[in-house]
Amino acid sequence: MLIAERIKQLKEKKNAVILAHYYVPDEVQEIADYIGDSYYLSKIAKNTDANIIVFCGVSFMGESAAILNPDKKVLMPDAKADCAMAHMVNLERIAELKNKYADLAVVCYINSTAEIKTYSDVCVTSANAIKVIKNLPNKNIFFIPDGNLGRYVKEQLPEKNIILNDGYCPIHAAMTKEEVLSEKKKHPKAKFLVHPECTKELLDEADYIGSTSGIIEFVAKDGNEEYIIGTEIGVLYELKKQNPEKKFYTMSKDQICTDMKFVTLEKVLDVLENENNVVMVGEEMQKKALIPLERMLELAR
Ligand code: 13P
Ligand code: SF4
Repeated sequence: MLIAERIKQLKEKKNAVILAHYYVPDEVQEIADYIGDSYYLSKIAKNTDANIIVFCGVSFMGESAAILNPDKKVLMPDAKADCAMAHMVNLERIAELKNKYADLAVVCYINSTAEIKTYSDVCVTSANAIKVIKNLPNKNIFFIPDGNLGRYVKEQLPEKNIILNDGYCPIHAAMTKEEVLSEKKKHPKAKFLVHPECTKELLDEADYIGSTSGIIEFVAKDGNEEYIIGTEIGVLYELKKQNPEKKFYTMSKDQICTDMKFVTLEKVLDVLENENNVVMVGEEMQKKALIPLERMLELAR
């Protein structure tokens, strides 16, 4: 029997749901019940009736699902799949800034560990960061961990004092202006679509800036025929599926999040069969980390 069929059978038998981020391999996206960006997947994880959530993504995604829905069993096909940026916060800096600004709100990108979330007032994703921060009563904001997304949000909200952290995504931050310009030269009619985790020099070249879902929605509504993609190559699966007549170009062979690619069909089957790699978040941490995640869902609504 084909591995995909076996997964389908087990999923039905065990009342499991498979969630996948746009960066996991194509064949995994193909068997998923829901594919999306971090914001969409967190809403699905919170509201599912399934007994088991198989989260095809990196650890902060599985952790967020377990925090939002503590009664469910959340399984990670590869327990080592992690996001480097999720750890890039110095907790002492949070304490220092809290002492300095009485009204400080610690705003935490969802790409962060459960522990970091416990020190935060509200979470955001790239799809809702501007809206959530705009809706906060606080003027002083410490945006963690991503300095690039933080800088982008700061530019959109000059009324706030957004203090930046120096975390970054190694994949998005490595994309260069030279690579974009070289692609633009080869494809002068192509629009450049970029994720806000990229550097300012890339964002300055963009025709559209947004989350993975934002990029996919932009292409669906846009009349152009060619696009240069400034994010991880996994989004190409959905982009090509929805727009078979359009052309998509990448800028370099390094637009790959290796950890996302750890997720394979074999590993999805393995966790469904054995119910291993269960995401464990201690009760106290779960309760504390739930507060900023729920506040995000409320303020982004
Ligand atoms: P999205 O929320 O835009 O899907 O981004 C998640 C991510 O990890 C980007 O690197
Ligand atoms: Fe983390 Fe970057 Fe991978 Fe996204 S692409 S999961 S931010 S390392």
